[in-house]
Amino acid sequence: MERNANDKFKLSERVFKVPPYPFAVIDKAREKVKAEHPDWKVISLGIGDPDRPTDPRIRAALTDAVENEFTTHKYPKYEGHPDLRKACAKWFNKRFELNIDPFENLIITNGSKEALMHTIWAVIDPGDTILVPDPFYPVYKMGSIFTDADIVYLPLKHENDFLIDYDSIPDDAADKAKMMFICYPNNPTSKLADIDFFKRTVKFARKHNIIVVSDNAYSEIYYGDEKPPSILEVDGAMDIAIELHSFSKTYNMTGWRLGFAIGNPRLIEALEIIKSNTDSGVFTAVQKAGIKALELADEIGGETRKIYKTRRDKSIAKLKKAGFYLTPCEATLYLWVKVPEGYNATTFAAKLLEEKGVVVGPGSAWGKEGENFFRICLSTPDDDLDEALDRIIET
Ligand SMILES: Cc1ncc(COP(=O)(O)O)c(C=O)c1O
Repeated sequence: MERNANDKFKLSERVFKVPPYPFAVIDKAREKVKAEHPDWKVISLGIGDPDRPTDPRIRAALTDAVENEFTTHKYPKYEGHPDLRKACAKWFNKRFELNIDPFENLIITNGSKEALMHTIWAVIDPGDTILVPDPFYPVYKMGSIFTDADIVYLPLKHENDFLIDYDSIPDDAADKAKMMFICYPNNPTSKLADIDFFKRTVKFARKHNIIVVSDNAYSEIYYGDEKPPSILEVDGAMDIAIELHSFSKTYNMTGWRLGFAIGNPRLIEALEIIKSNTDSGVFTAVQKAGIKALELADEIGGETRKIYKTRRDKSIAKLKKAGFYLTPCEATLYLWVKVPEGYNATTFAAKLLEEKGVVVGPGSAWGKEGENFFRICLSTPDDDLDEALDRIIET
């Protein structure tokens, strides 16, 4: 937010410290181009927002709850409806072959963005240190700014296969850190980490007494035979970790705002304290629909993967043929592509928008390590995706 000398209000320093949300900036730029070229079809490959609608059976579960259960108008339970908590634990335990308790270790969240921010509030005091991978999902940084924490960035480099290199973190930074984020499958690099990486993470975190927040929003969007693991599969992880799951991308439910946090009971309890004093929980009918989504998890997850895989394979082939360099895209719905010689993330994304009417995410929106990349999101209908790729290739 800009400072305004004539402002009558005395706003918090916090709002001035936070840069504008990257996708709000992208939206503004897109609107400007649309206004300047009303005859253009501007195509967005920007934000990860599924183009396909939520499955009708999930929608029916919501309407059924609203129409027939005459209590959905009431305040929801802060920690989540017991039936949904049980359904989440059942799905999680089957998927990761674990046996985690739905009440002691799990809480329903309004999507994982909310849970990320509130977990930071639950753990961090001013002056604490947080380890944040770079590139990162913006909320890790914004939450650190809101709580006046110090950030130490952990670069995800090509030479380390876009994994965190724990050996390169100085002991004093590690000892000072109170909390760290990991995100695999990773947005934006599309890297999938195997269980050995999670074992190294748990070893590092236990050695330095660090709480790990594992952002697993893309656990069900993968392309090979290897399924993304959960950190909670690692022995000892329950002592230090909380993992965040989301209904958004797997079930095309971004607007419904539904997810869950699972892990260490003290962290779950602390998160519940913050949440019950701020958001009052998720609309009960949405939670009922979430139960239906989990019943259909294998079917819908399989279909989602199939559609994104077709788009991914086609896009990778086209871009590679045109000489673009991409990271392997092992999971998630993103392609992380190097900008051509002579550009950086901002100049190339601006060129694509202003000259070709294509919105992509400039890599710098995800941190310093994204300066030479742009992100393509595959959640765009096939014809539009094809056309946008053709326009990108022409540049
Ligand atoms: C890595 C990552 N974490 C969390 C989220 C938030 O997802 P939601 O709040 O919709 O669950 C996103 C959304 O794009 C994301 O990319």
